[in-house]
Parts: sequence; structure tokens; C-alpha cells
Amino acid sequence: MFSIAIDGPAGSGKSTIAKLLASKLNIEYIDTGAMYRAIALKCLRLKINTDEEIKNMLADTEIDFINGKIYMDSEDVSELIRTKEISTIASDISKIAVVRKKLVEIQQKLASKKAVVMEGRDIGTVVLKNAKYKFFLTASIESRAKRRYEQMLEDGIKIDLNSVKEDILARDYNDEHRKNSPLKMADDAILLDNSNMTLEETLDFMLNVIRGN
Ligand code: C5P
Repeated sequence: MFSIAIDGPAGSGKSTIAKLLASKLNIEYIDTGAMYRAIALKCLRLKINTDEEIKNMLADTEIDFINGKIYMDSEDVSELIRTKEISTIASDISKIAVVRKKLVEIQQKLASKKAVVMEGRDIGTVVLKNAKYKFFLTASIESRAKRRYEQMLEDGIKIDLNSVKEDILARDYNDEHRKNSPLKMADDAILLDNSNMTLEETLDFMLNVIRGN
């Protein structure tokens, strides 16, 4: 099936861009970070953290995307997973091999059924190695922290810019240094630093690549 992979660090604008791109191309948008977050939420609720407990929990967990919302065991958790606490737990549990195995399987299955724009950390390197187009989206830490901060303010979350920056840096470090599928640009991906680009410019750049302009 036709697929587009978008990877990059936290706050690089991947989700917004992937969503817009999918809507322009009239194909499915899959936010893989939301899946790691959903598992993190379940770990938090069940107060579990050992690999063995997580492995057992995964065998009994269902994740679905319906109309842009993420469902965990039939519950819409789309809003609940957007907290700082969940970001940190998601980054921690994403190191665990069984977690990645389970989620990668679901992601590959979704992409085998429908044309997708899939966004995450390991899409171009692991999940969809044969994606038709691969982008690695990044931006300076200042721009990424500012964007995330403004988004959180808009969502009514009280936070200071410095703590957003620290959270992003810690997650980047975690994601880039883990043994299993670290955040890394695929050799055949197109690197795009959008620190000084608007959303429209970033989207146009990608559409031009896809349309062969
Ligand atoms: O993209 P988002 O910030 O929602 O992702 C939350 C966390 O999930 C990331 O910090 C990363 O640790 C993990 N993740 C991952 N692989 C992906 C997507 C997200 O390890 N494909």
C-alpha cells in the first residue's frame, strides 16, 4: 500500500503536518506516539512497571483508531494521553522490546490495509521501511519548545517555557539513545529543518516532493 513516513523529535510539528498532509491526500493519518501514550496510560492506571507485568498487560490490550480518535480497550483516550506525565512514561516504556513489537505489528497491519501518512520515531527505519516517501522533520530546540509551549497554553495547560524545554530535551535524549529502534533518520529520508518555516511552507515542500515538482 502507498505510505508516507514522517519521523522526528518531539515538538518538530510532525503531528500537525502529518494530519494536514493526510487530509490533502485524502488518506489515513496514524499517530504512533499516541499508541505509546495509550500504553503508558494503562501502565499508570494499573500501577505496573516491570517488563513481565507490561508483557502480560499487552496480551490483553486493544488499540484502535476510529475517526481520528485513539481507543484503548474501547475507551476514547485521545485527550487523557496528552499530559506531561504520560509523555515521560511513554518515553520510558517505549524502550521495552515487547511494547515496540506489539505496536509495530499493529502499525504495519494498519498500513497494509489502507494508504497512510504515519508519524513517529522509527517509521522510516523500522515500521515502514518501504514507504514511498520518507521525511525527517526537525527544528531547533528553541522553536520546538516554543511551539509546544504555545500549544499547551492554547489547550489551557499551565506550564513554563523552561520546563517544556527540559521535558523535550530529556525525551529526545531517551529516544535517541535507546537500544531498540532509536530515533534516527532513515538513510533514504528527506531531512527538513522547519525552524524558520511556516506550517504552510513545510506542507508545500512535502507536497511538491510527493507531486514530483
Ligand atoms: O510523538 P509523541 O511525542 O506523542 O510520542 C511519545 C513518545 O512515544 C516518544 O517520546 C517516544 O518515546 C515514543 N514513540 C516511539 N516510537 C514511535 C512514536 C513514539 O518510541 N514511533
